Amino acid sequence: MTHTTSHISEDFNLGSLRLANRLVQAPMAGISGRAFRLQARRFGAGLVSTEMISSYGVHFGDRRTVDMLDVRDAEHPVAVQLFGNQPELMAEAALAAERAGADIIDINMGCPVRKVVKTGAGVALMEDEPLAARVTAAVAGAVRVPVTVKIRSGARARATAASLAPRLAAAGAAAVSIHPRTGAQGYRGRADHTLTRQLAAALPVPVIASGDIAAPALAEQLLDAGCAAVMVGQAALGNPWIFADLLAGAEPHRRPLDAVLAEMGRFNHDLTGEVGEERAGRAMRKFYGWYLRPFKPDARLRDQLRRAAGFAAAEPLIRAALGDGPRG
Ligand SMILES: Cc1cc2nc3c(=O)[nH]c(=O)nc-3n(C[C@H](O)[C@H](O)[C@H](O)COP(=O)(O)O)c2cc1C
Repeated sequence: MTHTTSHISEDFNLGSLRLANRLVQAPMAGISGRAFRLQARRFGAGLVSTEMISSYGVHFGDRRTVDMLDVRDAEHPVAVQLFGNQPELMAEAALAAERAGADIIDINMGCPVRKVVKTGAGVALMEDEPLAARVTAAVAGAVRVPVTVKIRSGARARATAASLAPRLAAAGAAAVSIHPRTGAQGYRGRADHTLTRQLAAALPVPVIASGDIAAPALAEQLLDAGCAAVMVGQAALGNPWIFADLLAGAEPHRRPLDAVLAEMGRFNHDLTGEVGEERAGRAMRKFYGWYLRPFKPDARLRDQLRRAAGFAAAEPLIRAALGDGPRG
């Protein structure tokens, strides 16, 4: 369905920052490195986001972590997402991220992964509201750029977002992103956007909706309900065209194999520039499945691609298996 009054391509203010539209690329660990962010920008996302970056890693000067702060001109505006639970360390890391070029500092209060939660960071912060507010205030006090916080419904079964979010806004958050599943839920079940709509109505700052957004109808419903923007994560895996489709109010649809391979090649090129040939070759293996899903690759091709050294080796295999005209 195409909407006559589409909000998604309208600009808006997030704190002191003007964003060109209401479509945000979601932070994804192991995915939203520079190549992924550049791609999301090319396809129209108004704001892109790094994967979560450890404030401890920044503090201790861990090389891989510090490399993650490297943002390029073509990415802006870019949010750098940090995790940690110590206000001073988070403030220090935020300052480093701002110096590295972050347009927004985003605080992770949603990660349910054990190794993060057991340090008191990620979604564990939602269990300690005074500390969550202190972390937010410390970061907001340390940098000039807007500070946002990404939360879930709650850490465990109970939804606590409605009580926490106003405290975060009072502590200096310029916007709150909500992925309305609990930490205990992980990624199972559907995102319950009833909560998103409640927050959008109640909070004095912009609310960004995250979860299961893959078509214009839900995006527009959430914007109509008062959300400032929508965030797209998993729907963009292997389908960067989703950003352009959503901005145009169009249903997502598959592209021809030639276009998909050309885009994979471009992404591989940027990824190689980012992490080097060997790591890019390994990382591309997880992307093949996502990009080729609409073409229903058989077990033989999937197996060949698992062993392909790099995209230069993978491309002819893909063409040989799928290139004989339309399928499926
Ligand atoms: C592989 C993967 C990694 C993720 N990493 C992060 C992260 O680093 N920080 C974060 O705030 N959320 C992270 N998320 C959550 C997403 O940002 C998003 O809120 C969630 O996937 C729901 O949106 P979606 O249905 O559009 O994917 C991750 C999700 C996935 C699937």
